Amino acid sequence: MNTTFEIDIASKGYIDAAIDPELDLVEEIERLKKEKNAVILAHYYQESEIQDLADYIGDSLGLSQQAAKTDAEVIVFAGVHFMAETAKILSPDKKVLLPDLKAGCSLSDSCPPHLFAKFKERYPDHLVITYVNCTAELKALSDIVCTSSNAVQIVESLPEDQKIIFGPDRNLGAYVQKKTGREMVLWNGACMVHEIFSQERIDALRMAYPDAKFIAHPECEDHILDQADFIGSTSGMLKFTIEDPSPVYIVATESGILHQMQKASPSKTFIPAPPNNLCACNDCPHMKLNTLEKLYNCLYHEQPEIVLPLDVINRAKKPIERMLEISAKLGL
Ligand code: 13P
Ligand code: SF4
Repeated sequence: MNTTFEIDIASKGYIDAAIDPELDLVEEIERLKKEKNAVILAHYYQESEIQDLADYIGDSLGLSQQAAKTDAEVIVFAGVHFMAETAKILSPDKKVLLPDLKAGCSLSDSCPPHLFAKFKERYPDHLVITYVNCTAELKALSDIVCTSSNAVQIVESLPEDQKIIFGPDRNLGAYVQKKTGREMVLWNGACMVHEIFSQERIDALRMAYPDAKFIAHPECEDHILDQADFIGSTSGMLKFTIEDPSPVYIVATESGILHQMQKASPSKTFIPAPPNNLCACNDCPHMKLNTLEKLYNCLYHEQPEIVLPLDVINRAKKPIERMLEISAKLGL
């Protein structure tokens, strides 16, 4: 017989238990964290209130590195499914929790592993590099995983005559090709959030703010990246805004990152680059499924948990470890 929570998780993706409205959720989450020896990892695209109580906030590379070295017994991943899977692959003996199992990823979904396996068969002499934004199954089909902050360096670290398949993001792949001058076979996937920026609305903003620097994530399309003053991962963009003297930035990525930018540089102005619709900024609907309430219930009940077959963990671990080794060697 299923418990109410199992039914909740199967139908809604999260535990929908009532919470005492008088409870101070932030305080309770802090208390539960200590009691359970848990750590909260949050991606920069999470709601500000979640970022503020996380033990570590980062981009995909930083979060993977953190997941690999934490000695907590429980990891609560405030991010999306593939990120929590990466934490489970690197820490198979820990309990890895995701506040909402339905927090998926359009990019990851754009590359079903059974189709990628067939694609790969067409290029038997190619090395497979996959962007970390993909399922554990896809990682298990790869030789090296990369993130947006190390993709260029990982490709550059390989012999020049090495043939490469790159997936699943065609935009990051095209950016890496441009930066390295290497031809790669690209899988035709993309992130819905980074493909809907409006060129026209960005141009209008740049006219209105002539002092502004335009910074963009490499998941954006080529024509957007072509106009950028800086291109980088979320942590790369954050670092740039801290070190660069400009007073204003137009930021082409998910709007959650603006919270840390504003915190780090309170006197500067950050404007989210607008999408091709009536909204002012771009939110990832998957990332934003996580809420403080879901995080509290998840930590309290220790569900939903990420469970992966041991065989997938073992196969997916190798390409991630290879990425971490190359990154460490290159001092990234
Ligand atoms: P990074 O934070 O690694 O740049 O990744 C961006 C992203 O889209 C995560 O889902
Ligand atoms: Fe996936 Fe794009 Fe959302 Fe990142 S921003 S989780 S790549 S859909």
